[in-house]
Amino acid sequence: MEISLPLILLSTVVIMAMPLSFGVKGNQLSYNYYKNSCPNLESLVERELMSVFMTDIRAPSAFLRLMFHDCQVQGCDASILLDTIYATQSSEIASSGNFAIRNRETINDIKSVLEEECPGQVSCADIIVLAAKVSVSLSGGPSIQVPFGRKDSRTSSSKEADAKLPSPTVTVDEFLSIFKSKGMNIQESVAILGAHTLGVGHCLSIVGRLYNQNQQIGNNMNLGYETSLRLACPTVIPMTNLTFVPNDMTPTIFDNQYYRDIMMGRGLLGIDSSISRDPRTAPIVMRFAMDQSYFFENFSSAFVKLSASNVLTNIQGEVRRKCNQLN
Ligand code: HEM
Ligand SMILES: *[C@@H]1O[C@H](CO)[C@@H](O)[C@H](O)[C@H]1NC(C)=O
Ligand SMILES: *[C@@H]1O[C@H](CO)[C@@H](O)[C@H](O)[C@H]1NC(C)=O
Repeated sequence: MEISLPLILLSTVVIMAMPLSFGVKGNQLSYNYYKNSCPNLESLVERELMSVFMTDIRAPSAFLRLMFHDCQVQGCDASILLDTIYATQSSEIASSGNFAIRNRETINDIKSVLEEECPGQVSCADIIVLAAKVSVSLSGGPSIQVPFGRKDSRTSSSKEADAKLPSPTVTVDEFLSIFKSKGMNIQESVAILGAHTLGVGHCLSIVGRLYNQNQQIGNNMNLGYETSLRLACPTVIPMTNLTFVPNDMTPTIFDNQYYRDIMMGRGLLGIDSSISRDPRTAPIVMRFAMDQSYFFENFSSAFVKLSASNVLTNIQGEVRRKCNQLN
């Protein structure tokens, strides 16, 4: 697959998201949470991630999706990192909605580095958000200021992940209601899906729209694009889960190419294609396609809202010593 473009290692765009109040009942995230307890947190994590990105060009997209899947189920609480806790109940990662989630163990590795520098201080939930933030900026996207202070969950349930993780054929109504529940307006909802400017999708995620002609969602594909997808994914039931195709034409660069692609019938997933056509979202797609800094600004405020969804603070959770298991 054609993902050989170099990472843009310096981003000059710095965007402060609008101040917001996070959490409820006085349990708030804070922009200087680790000021005393782990002052070098951001530079430590950035250094670790740079060396990961050198050898794994797909890692930034993996971290960005990891944050969404963590925050979407029980809130941003690192519940996605837990290995199965009870013999009777499997954890989130066992859900088919978490198909192709990668790099959970890299968060464990970063955690061990942080345990040496600032033992017992930094939650796994905050590391996930920080890894996503650094992934965006090191891929050429905005440098987003995010508040910290999330605690880690003591539970994780694959059933809840089954129920909460959206399928690629989700309708625009369902898509909008997911992000509205996180306090996003329609612009921010369209902006957060711009995360699909990074990374890939596997055949499993697109054969439904490639081969089911009854499905309305499958329409509107550029003919040449559809042909190339059918070549990459030739069977209705994929023979392997190893084949993937890029999410947009520049899958290692965080830019507004995704919006230009979906406007031209080159949306990979059903929902990507749907937002380019729905009368509520299409004008916003066009705006983002024409104006990258407008997209970056709206993405940044959306990212901060996503990263604050249903967080646990103070005594509502713990700081795990190892991200994949309870203390
Ligand atoms: C309704 C909302 C969404 C749906 C239905 C959806 C669905 C999907 C699907 C099916 C894939 C491909 C998985 C595969 O086959 O490998 C994917 C990839 C991805 N998604 Fe989403 N997504 C949504 C929202 C988001 C959000 C909000 C973010 C981040 C803020 C995000 C970030 C990503 C990234 C970065 C990838 C590429 C992952 C990689 O390359 O490993 N998505 N998404
Ligand atoms: C691909 O992954 C899906 C979802 O996890 C699974 O149901 C399917 O059996 C896998 N297919 C192959 C060929 O491994
Ligand atoms: C989107 O970006 C524009 C341009 O920077 C800004 O004026 C607007 O307030 C932003 N909207 C949201 C919801 O972030």
